[in-house]
Amino acid sequence: MGIQDELQATIRDLVQKGKGILAADESHPTIAKRFKAIGMESTEENRRAYRSLLLTTAGAGEFLSGVILFEETLLQKADDGTLLPMVAWRQGIVPGIKVDKGTVPLCGAPNDLVTQGLDGLAERLKTYKTQGARFAKWREVYPITDRNPTALGVEANAEMLARYAAVCQEQGIVPIVEPEVLLDGDHSLQRCAEVTESVLHAVFHALHRHRVTLEYMLLKPSMVLPGKEHARKADPDEVARETVKVLRRVVPAAVPSINFLSGGQTAEQATANLNAMNVLFPQAPWELSFSYARALQQPVLDAWQGRRENVTAAQQVFHFRAVLTGAARRGQYRPEMERAA
Ligand code: 13P
Repeated sequence: MGIQDELQATIRDLVQKGKGILAADESHPTIAKRFKAIGMESTEENRRAYRSLLLTTAGAGEFLSGVILFEETLLQKADDGTLLPMVAWRQGIVPGIKVDKGTVPLCGAPNDLVTQGLDGLAERLKTYKTQGARFAKWREVYPITDRNPTALGVEANAEMLARYAAVCQEQGIVPIVEPEVLLDGDHSLQRCAEVTESVLHAVFHALHRHRVTLEYMLLKPSMVLPGKEHARKADPDEVARETVKVLRRVVPAAVPSINFLSGGQTAEQATANLNAMNVLFPQAPWELSFSYARALQQPVLDAWQGRRENVTAAQQVFHFRAVLTGAARRGQYRPEMERAA
C-alpha cells in the first residue's frame, strides 16, 4: 500500500457515524494525578491494569473507532497475554499514539507555552507503526488571560502543530492536530470565541505552508466555552452555535472530522454540548465527533477505585458513557438517559 492509501484507509476507519475516539494517552504526571484522586499509586502495573480494563470492555468498539495510547501502553499486555494494541484492533478500534513530549514555557512570551517532541519524531513514528499505531496526536495549549495567548504564542504553536503533522503524513500516520484553548480563568464565552478563531486561523495557515493534506488529518479543538470561573454559564445550544460559528470561519471543508476534547467539562456537559452541535448542524461540512479523555474516563475511575472486584462495574460505567457519547455523536442524546445509570 502506498502512503496515500494508508492515510485514506486510516481516515475511513476513524471517521464512522456514531463513533469517536477515546483518549487514554495521559502522560505519567497526568495519570498519576488521576490515580491519586482515587487513592491509587501510579505504578506500571496499575496503569496496565487500568488501560486493559478500558480496552477489554465488551462492545466498546460499537462506539469507539480509535484510541489514543501512551507510549508504554503499546508494549503492555492484557491479563490473557494479548498486546493491548491488538486487543483494540480485535474490537475494531484503531490504535493511535500521543507523540508530543509536553509543554515548556515559550521564551519571549510570558505565560504562553509551547510543546516539545519534534526531535527524532520520524524515527519514533516508524517504531510506533511496527507496534500497531496508525495515527498520532500532538497537543498545543493556549491559556487565556488579558495578555495571552500572545501573537508570538499563537504563531509558534501553530508552527509546531504543522511541522508535526507534516512529519506524520510523510510516515503514513494520520495526525490529530490538537490546539487546546484552556478552560481556566474567568473570561467570557465571547473572549474564548475570539481566541479560538485566531488560534485556528494560524494553525490552518501553518498547515498550508507545511503542505499538510487536510483530507488526511483530524482536528481536535476545544469547544467555545466561558472560563471555568466566569459568572455566566452557557447552555448547550449556545455552546454549539458559538463553536460551530468559529469553526465555519476557519476550518476548511476538506477536513473530514472534528473530534473535540472535553477539557475539564463534566461528562454530562461534554456529552450535551456535542449532542447540541449534531442536532443543530446536521449539514456541517465535517463530522462533529469526540476524542474525550476525562469525559469518558472520570466516571470509570470513580467506579473502579483501583480494586479488582470493581472491574466489571467500572466496565459497565465505561460502556454506558460510550453509549451516551455515541448517541451525542448522532444528535440522539437526551439528559434523561443519564438516569438509566
Ligand atoms: P480531555 O478530554 O480530558 O480534555 O483530554 C483530551 C486530551 O487528549 C487532552 O490532550
